[in-house]
Amino acid sequence: MKKLRLALLAGGVSGEREVSLKGAAGVEKALDPEKYEVVRFDPATDLSLIAARAKDIDVAFILLHGIHGEDGTIQGFLDLLGIPYQGAGVLGSALAMDKNLAKTMYRLHGLPVATWEMASREDIADPARLLAAVELPLVVKPVRQGSSIGMSIVRDAKALGLALAKAFAHDRQVMVEQYIKGREITVGVIGNDRPVALPLVEIIPDSRYEFFDYEAKYQPGATREICPAQVSEETRNKAQEYGLAAHHALQLRGYSRTDMIVSGNDICLLETNTIPGMTPTSLLPQAAAVYGLPFPALLDRLIELALERQG
Ligand SMILES: Nc1ncnc2c1ncn2[C@@H]1O[C@H](COP(=O)(O)OP(=O)(O)O)[C@@H](O)[C@H]1O
Ligand SMILES: [Mg+2]
Repeated sequence: MKKLRLALLAGGVSGEREVSLKGAAGVEKALDPEKYEVVRFDPATDLSLIAARAKDIDVAFILLHGIHGEDGTIQGFLDLLGIPYQGAGVLGSALAMDKNLAKTMYRLHGLPVATWEMASREDIADPARLLAAVELPLVVKPVRQGSSIGMSIVRDAKALGLALAKAFAHDRQVMVEQYIKGREITVGVIGNDRPVALPLVEIIPDSRYEFFDYEAKYQPGATREICPAQVSEETRNKAQEYGLAAHHALQLRGYSRTDMIVSGNDICLLETNTIPGMTPTSLLPQAAAVYGLPFPALLDRLIELALERQG
């Protein structure tokens, strides 16, 4: 069989550049050399090179997170070049990247979300308006970031101004969201026309972390991840149903991973990742392995789904 020429896109310009590069090393190692000829590109410097070599590229694997990777821009670039790629297209990527629009879509589809309010820079000096809209404790988030960058949990009104200023340093759009106390789970989904939900993963950051922040995410051993999550059958079914519904609501394809908080019998959707972490021990790959797709088989499947869309 002829090898597929695969462009592995990693690096990029977002705050998650390092995460991307680390992920790419693992993906490159796991891709079967009998099946793929891998060529690495870094969109931070290589866009014209990708365009020049488009004719020779069978498929791209986008291993970029955040701005200009997960937000639809690189997807549009590849569409124009006629290069298929894994995961969501332009619209789905852009919708999912924007936590405000994603939550609006979830709500339109009847999916449960925590109360939220968009902030403006004026709220930094006088956050009374926000405090009237969302009760303490609350979470301040840049709307289009990942890896918890620029995010804070605010328990005291006095800390809100500073938290807003920090978030605005990372994005022009910032939101405040009701803090939900509960167990954190994430639900992977794989497929195009008939996607399936993977086993749930519960995320338990070490008690020294206030939440699943950047360090808790990437410091080895900082977080315990339990798959399949030890939850009731009812919670499992509901969370899987929500993961699939979020995937549809945001018009995603290929795969996705939706973060949720389980609080008693309620589940609240936080966000959906269209290019979830892809080291062999990342959350979606762990869930896929439990489902029966070890890391190299997961990569094969995602590439197969990327090519299937072309037909
Ligand atoms: N409303 C919330 N209530 C409680 N914890 C939250 C809330 N929103 C976010 N978090 C915590 O912050 C982490 C990151 O938030 P998330 O919305 O998933 O953004 P991202 O992963 O893109 O940075 C979550 O995994 C969770 O630990
Ligand atoms: Mg998240």
